[in-house]
Amino acid sequence: MNITIVGTGYVGLGTAIMLAYLGYQVTGLDSDQAKIDGLRAGALPIYEPGLEELLASASANLHWTTSYADAIPHADVIFICVGTPPLPDGHPNLSYLESAVRSVAENLDGKPQIIVNKSTVPIGTGDWVLRILEEHAARHAGSRYEVVSNPEFLREGTALGDSLYPDRIVLGGSAWATGRLRELYAPLIEQTFEAPPHIPRPRGYMQPAVVETTLTSAEMIKYAANAFLALKISFANEIAGLCECVGADIQEVTAGIGLDHRIGTPFLAAGAGWGGSCFGKDTSALISTGQDYGYSMPILRAAISVNDRQRHLVIEKLQKHLRLLKGKRVAVLGMAFKPNTDDLRDAPAHDFITRLSQLGASVVAYDPVAMPRARREWQHLTYVEAASAQAALHGADAVIIATEWSEFRTLNWSEAVCTMRTRVIVDARNILTLPLQVPAVLEQIGRDHPRPSFLPAEHQPAAPQPGVQVGA
Ligand code: UDX
Repeated sequence: MNITIVGTGYVGLGTAIMLAYLGYQVTGLDSDQAKIDGLRAGALPIYEPGLEELLASASANLHWTTSYADAIPHADVIFICVGTPPLPDGHPNLSYLESAVRSVAENLDGKPQIIVNKSTVPIGTGDWVLRILEEHAARHAGSRYEVVSNPEFLREGTALGDSLYPDRIVLGGSAWATGRLRELYAPLIEQTFEAPPHIPRPRGYMQPAVVETTLTSAEMIKYAANAFLALKISFANEIAGLCECVGADIQEVTAGIGLDHRIGTPFLAAGAGWGGSCFGKDTSALISTGQDYGYSMPILRAAISVNDRQRHLVIEKLQKHLRLLKGKRVAVLGMAFKPNTDDLRDAPAHDFITRLSQLGASVVAYDPVAMPRARREWQHLTYVEAASAQAALHGADAVIIATEWSEFRTLNWSEAVCTMRTRVIVDARNILTLPLQVPAVLEQIGRDHPRPSFLPAEHQPAAPQPGVQVGA
């Protein structure tokens, strides 16, 4: 089977390179000439662990183009992986999708071809895509096509492992079309490919489940999965707040509840809340879809408002110790929305830097991989870059750990805090275990450690007043 992938963002690139690795001839198409030139020269437009190595090993099967006329007629399966960024009203922007589908339609060649929606698209998009194709077919007799929804569940940072060893493959469409895709995915379904040395098959992994369903149900599965994961995180964050009130430890609480196999431990890490390109966008999109039908979704609304509250909470924790932030120097460690990616979309660090600047603090930021991207995408923010985590802490009054990069975990904190002016650490990802002798104040989320205070008297927190609620 010949494959074409339209759109070379995270999903498109990962899919193209993975299918080429499985042995298919894959053409990757993007309207961005610079991106395509880069890919032809072996340069990736994004940072994703292991992708460069896999690209190198599969390059003989990969072809890159900006031309629909080159990429569509010979393709048996056309994956549409273009972006659907959110509009201000929460609905996804479908203009890239529409233009991609129209260009595909113009170039279909009459043999049976399958158009696969892999982007997360609003429920009902598969039908809409079919209508666009039909409209076109009415003018160009002979096109034969089917539309399938095959949502992608990969996470940035672990995209390749998630693609090669998925939990499930969801296929929504006619029996013929989903059957063809089953054939395409046979090496994954049966796990007959040789695992790349740098992305080994996880111990105990067997095979993915295959879910064959309708177009609309497949679209719903993707949204509902992301909304549920977002909800799990917000639930953990809500319980974390109560843990702080009563003196419990959220890490122990979530470990304890996660052992119930009906709940499970993943996605219960309390902290700065979710970010990235999917959870915020998909929960808002689902709420907007509900609104289109006059249907309210109070659980999802609550999940979003808990997530927003987490970001304020981090700043409140700084204020609790430093009081006025004006004139203070705050180090922000981590800019990407999560580790092992340079993706800055909806990153908590963005909101921290914005709020700190509004409050008159100066910000020194450091991220192991996302700084070059932040230079381009965060020009509207005011901060100074540091060359390392240690350098960011030097002379700072406080530090916020915004992303759980492993190098922040392993930093020599005893030494680093001694270079700070005032030693307040807000660990918004709950990654530190600081020995008591490390002379610093440590704030985490949902954890209340009794530690000796090393702050000068004017920075001592006010004694808690029973009955007075602090925070939102
Ligand atoms: C997510 C989905 O996991 C994936 O299936 C879908 O295809 C795309 O959206 P991604 O956005 O890449 O993937 O990242 P993910 O690892 O899911 O993390 C999302 C956000 O939740 C991050 O900001 C992360 O820091 C946060 N998170 C995750 C928590 O705050 N706590 C957790 O326990 C887990």
